[in-house]
Amino acid sequence: TKPKIAVVGSINMDLTTSFDRMPHQGETVHGTSFATYPGGKGFNQAVAAARGGAEVSMVGVIGDDAFGKSLKTMLAKEKIATAGIKTMTGIGTGTATILLTEGDNRIVVVPGANGEVTPQHVERQRELLTNSDIVLLQLEIPMESVKKAAEIAFEANVPIILNPAPSQPLSKELLDKITYLTPNESEAADLMTHYESRKALEEKLIITKGKQGVMFYEKGRAVTVPGFPVTPADTTGAGDTFCGLMSTRIAQGYSLEEACQFANAGAALSVTKPGAQGGMPTEREVLRFLRERGK
Ligand code: RIB
Ligand code: NA
Repeated sequence: TKPKIAVVGSINMDLTTSFDRMPHQGETVHGTSFATYPGGKGFNQAVAAARGGAEVSMVGVIGDDAFGKSLKTMLAKEKIATAGIKTMTGIGTGTATILLTEGDNRIVVVPGANGEVTPQHVERQRELLTNSDIVLLQLEIPMESVKKAAEIAFEANVPIILNPAPSQPLSKELLDKITYLTPNESEAADLMTHYESRKALEEKLIITKGKQGVMFYEKGRAVTVPGFPVTPADTTGAGDTFCGLMSTRIAQGYSLEEACQFANAGAALSVTKPGAQGGMPTEREVLRFLRERGK
């Protein structure tokens, strides 16, 4: 049977513009392409987990606008349960304006409806969270709501995976409840400055390092699980693909190292196609990719 994963998090429409050179202040340049893609760290991780073989429920808020409607259809297409998603009137669906240029991405997120994922809304989804095998969180909804979700899961002994992005200071009370944290290198450095017990933090860390793969500590020793080099088309959402797939494999009882290798392969596949969710593989596709590389 499929493991159950509950994602409490953001749902965005990504507005992606590609161009050759960043305009200076007051300057206009011609871009090379524009497209809208489903996104938001919450939605992206939910899709990665669902394609990877989990039964996924999402808790979030969208606006009563065109972006919200189309995102809701996309959630359903991915077979993500949407009972925990509220449609609010009078507020816009979250957006991410993504500038792809010079082999780099810059993102401006306007939370909109994601800011309405209140602790009360999370509380109403208590049963959904306590009936899950893993609760997966990020930091694109209000911090009180992240804390609420963590409290509910922790009390029920449901393991919690937190992707601490975008980077924000985290309280000790929250960190203590988390089973695994999946920062990138700069987010990991931020965490170290906010947590006094380095050892307690280390045990929870799975640090993602892009194409170099990931690193975690086992009995105080650093373990590296190498990534898979590919030619990227769009690296947006690679970290989300990793988190969703890693969570699925952990929930299925794989070791941390196995889960990370599977998730690294999935993240590599995901960056070969444009859009955060474009290129996110199914379980079969990841296994085939690993086989082709002798793993
Ligand atoms: O992690 C990538 C995501 O971050 C994008 O889909 C965008 O919506 C931003 O929230
Ligand atoms: Na992609």
